[in-house]
Amino acid sequence: TAPLRIAIAGLGTVGSGLIRILQTHPDLLARRAGRPIEIVAVTARSRGKDRGVELSGYGWEDDPVVLARRDDIELFVEVMGGEDGPAKAATEAALAAGKHVVTANKAMLARHGFALARQAEDSNVALRFEAAVAGGIPCVKALTEGLAGNAVSRVLGVMNGTCNYILTEMERTGGDYDNILADAQRLGYAEADPSFDVGGQDAAQKLALLSATAFGTQVDYDGIKIEGIERITLTDIRYARDLGYRIKLLGVAAQTGEGVEQRMQPCLVPMSSPLGQLEGVANMVVLEGDAVGQTVYQGPGAGAGPTASAVMADIIDIARGLVIPAFGVPTADLAAPVRSGSSAG
Ligand code: NAP
Ligand code: HSE
Repeated sequence: TAPLRIAIAGLGTVGSGLIRILQTHPDLLARRAGRPIEIVAVTARSRGKDRGVELSGYGWEDDPVVLARRDDIELFVEVMGGEDGPAKAATEAALAAGKHVVTANKAMLARHGFALARQAEDSNVALRFEAAVAGGIPCVKALTEGLAGNAVSRVLGVMNGTCNYILTEMERTGGDYDNILADAQRLGYAEADPSFDVGGQDAAQKLALLSATAFGTQVDYDGIKIEGIERITLTDIRYARDLGYRIKLLGVAAQTGEGVEQRMQPCLVPMSSPLGQLEGVANMVVLEGDAVGQTVYQGPGAGAGPTASAVMADIIDIARGLVIPAFGVPTADLAAPVRSGSSAG
């Protein structure tokens, strides 16, 4: 069978993690995908850097846009990051050239997801982003596939591993915020600019994508009321614990009579609840549907292996021939967002 030929832009935490998966068990992946998956070429900012994976067998392009348009690829993986700039330019170039795109880039999709999804549709290719929401947890697929028979009423959860790590480590060690954030950066959990993690924007970008997929609306990042964890002190955490609670950065999107309400803010959750028990870099996503009731998904929300696992699953879907609309329904059917309640406005 003809291999699925791919290119990878970005060889950092996620890109290197993806190459590691592809090199570790190619036969297993080929059986699952129905065809071998072959890396044709890659790119990053600096060519010579040791990334802990063997790259000598792959081609190289300095320019991500040139990589995205290569005639010898069918699928382009964007794991560089950034809302605009090379990530968006290369994604647009790939879609325009009729290549499927898999990306982990929630910042880009929270701003441009609707336009990119429309471009993918026009080119009859897939745009997939499982890794952009809650790392290794397959919650986008849960909405577009497993729960496709449900009208969804609410999605909520802890969607930033760095914040959950900081909050649990502060309570566990009594340690100071700056040192714990530095650990999260060293472990590859934090964004290139970690103020997007602690400020709540990263989790809000994920909530915007999940909410659009759940409710069939255009992505409405600006409709989210956002408050981060920067002002949470050890004293706050200790008071909460003494009262039987933990502080979590919680995102909620709910369908109300008026429209969709979206919030991202630190909340008190009972210590004994599943959310209260969530420790470290983990994420937890709760999806509520009219037929199924409440479903709960928990797992690693960041890091090389978990995030690359989600990218890999999207690649396998495409290799199998699954080309579904990015947000579960065609863009023409995505309703303009109507904000309600305490959503930003
Ligand atoms: P990272 O470790 O900083 O890696 C970014 C990679 O992109 C680096 O290899 C960098 O090259 C390359 N790059 C940046 N600008 C480039 C340009 N102009 N041209 C070519 N290459 C360029 O980032 P990451 O953690 O892997 O994250 C990548 C994406 O995945 C982001 O969108 C992020 O939000 C998302 N994500 C990350 C995680 C996670 O846990 N890390 C989880 C979910 C989603 P150099 O190495 O040469 O500098
Ligand atoms: N910085 C993000 C987090 C990476 O900590 O959750 C995963 O999206």
